[in-house]
Amino acid sequence: MMHTSFSVHPFEERLEEAFLRQTSDISLMISPLMVDELNKQANAEIYSSCLYLAISDYFESVNLKGFAKWMKAQAREELAHADRFYEHIIDRMGRAKVLAVEQPPFEWSSPADAIRAAFDHEVKVTGLINGLVNLALSEKDNTAFNFLQWFVAEQVEEEKQVDEILQRLKIGGGQGAGLLLMDSELAQRKVS
Ligand SMILES: [Fe+2]
Ligand SMILES: [Fe+2]
Repeated sequence: MMHTSFSVHPFEERLEEAFLRQTSDISLMISPLMVDELNKQANAEIYSSCLYLAISDYFESVNLKGFAKWMKAQAREELAHADRFYEHIIDRMGRAKVLAVEQPPFEWSSPADAIRAAFDHEVKVTGLINGLVNLALSEKDNTAFNFLQWFVAEQVEEEKQVDEILQRLKIGGGQGAGLLLMDSELAQRKVS
């Protein structure tokens, strides 16, 4: 019997083709779990912003205007980070859910104590970003994986910047003329 064009593409083969087409369509969409986790991260970025505003207020209260200004610039950057997460969710047809934000601490015992709180927080955020990268890998979500790489690089920068300030405070910049010099240096940062 002659092979018809139909027998060249048996049913099973066409089924497989349809399945592949369907799964490749699905991979363009974002999973509900990924949407939830990205929304949680947007919330963590908003919390970072609130924490840095609180630290900025602490520096105002001890009359370190340069430190206060620097932390305020950090606070604004964190809001921009949250916005990046929301935009990514929306671009991929998910819902950007605004979640309740925890109240940050209010008081610190010294400038070094306040900067250490910021550093410890950045380390925690790096862990959260790494967790999201692992989730993107396990979900085979290349789009989210690619999106998250900006944050992977950003966290290196964030930890480095805050650690530099902390180290200077520890080696004698924590009081007197050294502290005032640092304060005037940090005042140079622009708040957009
Ligand atoms: Fe951030
Ligand atoms: Fe940060």
